[in-house]
Amino acid sequence: MPDSNRSADLFDKPLASPFLRAVHATPVRPYYRPLHARDGEAVMDGRQVVMAGCNDYLGLATDPRVTAAAGAALRTYGASCSGARTLNGTLPLHGELEAAVADFLGTEDAAVVTTGFQSNLALAALFGAGDVVLSDNANHASLIDGIRLGAAHRLRYRHRDPVHLERLLTDADPAAAKAVVTDGMFSMDGALAPLPALTAAARRHGARTIVDGAHDIGLLGPAGRGAAEHFGVHDRVDLFTGTFSKCFGSTGGFLAGPTRVITYLRYAARAILFSASMPPPALAAAMSALEISIAEPWRRHRVLTLAARLRERLSGLGYDTGSAAVLGESDAGPAGPVIAVRAGDAAACVGLWQRLLDEGVYTNPVGPPAVPEGCCIIRVTLQATHTDTHVDRIADAFAAARRLTPAPAVPVLARPRQAPAPETAR
Ligand SMILES: Cc1ncc(COP(=O)(O)O)c(C=O)c1O
Repeated sequence: MPDSNRSADLFDKPLASPFLRAVHATPVRPYYRPLHARDGEAVMDGRQVVMAGCNDYLGLATDPRVTAAAGAALRTYGASCSGARTLNGTLPLHGELEAAVADFLGTEDAAVVTTGFQSNLALAALFGAGDVVLSDNANHASLIDGIRLGAAHRLRYRHRDPVHLERLLTDADPAAAKAVVTDGMFSMDGALAPLPALTAAARRHGARTIVDGAHDIGLLGPAGRGAAEHFGVHDRVDLFTGTFSKCFGSTGGFLAGPTRVITYLRYAARAILFSASMPPPALAAAMSALEISIAEPWRRHRVLTLAARLRERLSGLGYDTGSAAVLGESDAGPAGPVIAVRAGDAAACVGLWQRLLDEGVYTNPVGPPAVPEGCCIIRVTLQATHTDTHVDRIADAFAAARRLTPAPAVPVLARPRQAPAPETAR
């Protein structure tokens, strides 16, 4: 059957998704807008707004100690290593940061990688032909791509559903090497992976557990080591991946686990072997932020407290923030700093986004492929550097938007129990 949408010109592509086409049918242009964020606020189009859409959860990206460390490394080592780790891209700073990450997470070893995305792409080297990878249906795009780049057979289990995972594990070839792969805290809905049940299922079937702690390492758990520590199963996770771009005020990523695995990845992962290494300022910023995050636990307590307060206020205004999904059905743990406000279809979502901006609050409007079709969200994130007044201003903006537009009939963000929904981050 000829595809009527196909063009003979490779460059003749429509906007990638129906969501984006729907957004472009409105006058609102929420993406690629230049802004400059600092201390819970941002300057956008020359106007000061409250920043409620930044992943710098601990408020460290502009901390003077972090920027001073980055500046000193820049002056000492230059702006770039201009090469990959293996040959000409390794500074003492790389090894020092790797040791600090391994020490913080209590793993034998760690490798730092140029971005968090690449740390997940590096996993491809582990996933060989005949292996089986079981992946949460809402995993981050970088995990999905890392799995796809490998040669293993990929099975998707329903979002945060250990029963479905167990069934897939039971049906899988018992002789195959297996891995269960999940975000620790899911980037879009802010929900925690049910790690006790997932790790138990993995162990019953001889599978390794790999957790991407991009959003939770540095934030959750008694020592800030992440969702696995929060649930008391840190030692049941075989390999962690993570990023320095959220809690650790910088850019870059890491893998942390047993020495033999990290050594193997250093020599086998193409995302490490064939890409210039983390640059000096980013290394020094990450090291400084990691040290501060350990020395100043008030930061993670503060952001979690603020998020709980805002979530309560938004629920009181009639917004669906899906807090049950965030806390997990049987988990009384902390609500994370990501608040996903259900916003309906594309037009409703960007309309709400614009109203919030008009009220002086910047948020993130998110649609497919990051969330399921028809389940757009306004993704609100808080930072340790937000003041109580910032939180009030965010809540007041939502209240004002509600006065203009009554509650929409919003479908609950898909958490399918019967059949896996189409994968979100395609
Ligand atoms: C869960 C998750 N993993 C990995 C990444 C990629 O991290 P980075 O931005 O450092 O490339 C992100 C980024 O948003 C993420 O949310």
